[in-house]
Amino acid sequence: MTSGPLRAGIIGAGRISDLHAIEYLQNPAARLVALCDRDAAQARAKARAWGVPDIAIDDDIDRFLARPDIDLVEILLPHHLHLPVAKKAMAAGKIVSLQKPMCLTLAEADELVAAAEAHDRPVKIFENFIFYPPVLKARALIDEGAIGTPLSIRIKSNPARSATAWKVPAAANAWRQEHDHAGGGPLVFDDGHHKFALAWHFMGDPEEVHAFINWGEGPGGIRFDAQSMISFRFPGNRVGNLEVVYSPEMEMISQYYAQDDRVEITGTRGVIFINGGHGRLAATPPVSLYRDGALTHYDVPSGWEQSFVLSTRDYIEAIGAGRPPLLTPRQGRQVLRFALAAEQSAREGRSIRLSE
Ligand SMILES: NC(=O)c1ccc[n+]([C@@H]2O[C@H](COP(=O)([O-])OP(=O)(O)OC[C@H]3O[C@@H](n4cnc5c(N)ncnc54)[C@H](O)[C@@H]3O)[C@@H](O)[C@H]2O)c1
Repeated sequence: MTSGPLRAGIIGAGRISDLHAIEYLQNPAARLVALCDRDAAQARAKARAWGVPDIAIDDDIDRFLARPDIDLVEILLPHHLHLPVAKKAMAAGKIVSLQKPMCLTLAEADELVAAAEAHDRPVKIFENFIFYPPVLKARALIDEGAIGTPLSIRIKSNPARSATAWKVPAAANAWRQEHDHAGGGPLVFDDGHHKFALAWHFMGDPEEVHAFINWGEGPGGIRFDAQSMISFRFPGNRVGNLEVVYSPEMEMISQYYAQDDRVEITGTRGVIFINGGHGRLAATPPVSLYRDGALTHYDVPSGWEQSFVLSTRDYIEAIGAGRPPLLTPRQGRQVLRFALAAEQSAREGRSIRLSE
């Protein structure tokens, strides 16, 4: 590694790479130097759109990882490639940022944790929702004692339709329909990772998880796992749930996915509402606090891309400061364990105790 800016390379120039690129392109401590995708034309088009047409482009992951001019790789691939490519990246001596979910099974997660802990460079499991400014605000309010002790978290994922949403390429939906590639359904397992991460972030590890996961048809005939309801029990008589509801005729405002996310955290003294995520139901305030008979609204930045910017910035700073990333591979395993417990519960028709 040179002493100059961190030289970053992205592997997987698909839908989400646009939001990962933002911070690497603007942070003086980093530089986006290379891009890898098996579809080189797509990678070239992305580089042009990001204003870096001269960036190095390769369509072969092994050749890409052998480049000595890349310090850090950001892995943005279909889920079944996460473990093998992360292992190769570590073997090539790279700093690694790996999109969620870290891999498909707990056995794979254990392998990845062991490899990461034996690696002498940082490894991050990229989870952006916990860096979303309204989530950071809610966390700061809780840490100040604004709602007392949090007792319950209620998370609602609400996909709908949206004339303003970005376009999701058919290829990005196609691998998500293959269980071997995705590891679980698009809403409860894939997008749900963020929601399990939020529940873990605010409440800690669950003791028990119960899920009803139903399957229906989403936009463009894709099959997805709504309507679903997952409930959790945390130590100390605290609870939570994730509800996934598709509203096919509801028009939503979103620049990104046609989905809204709402969170309500109830404590011993008050309630915090995070009123949006990817999308928004009209002009709701990003965060609201109810306490002592009054409702206070907080106007913090609420563009969903900010969650990627701040997660990436935090990693660049963590690498510089020699502190652990958020999520560490071990933390990523806990979130994966939470998500897999929901899948297992729905499959087996029983609640799953995580001490099992
Ligand atoms: N944090 C979030 O909110 C969020 C949102 C969307 C996606 N994601 C995650 O990001 C990752 C990518 O998702 P996406 O929606 O961008 O998917 P995508 O399908 O749009 O992009 C994946 C890219 O990988 C490329 N690819 C596939 N196999 C390859 C190979 N062997 N070699 C080189 N390139 C290859 C594809 O050509 C494609 O461009 C997934 O882990 C997903 O869960 C996270």
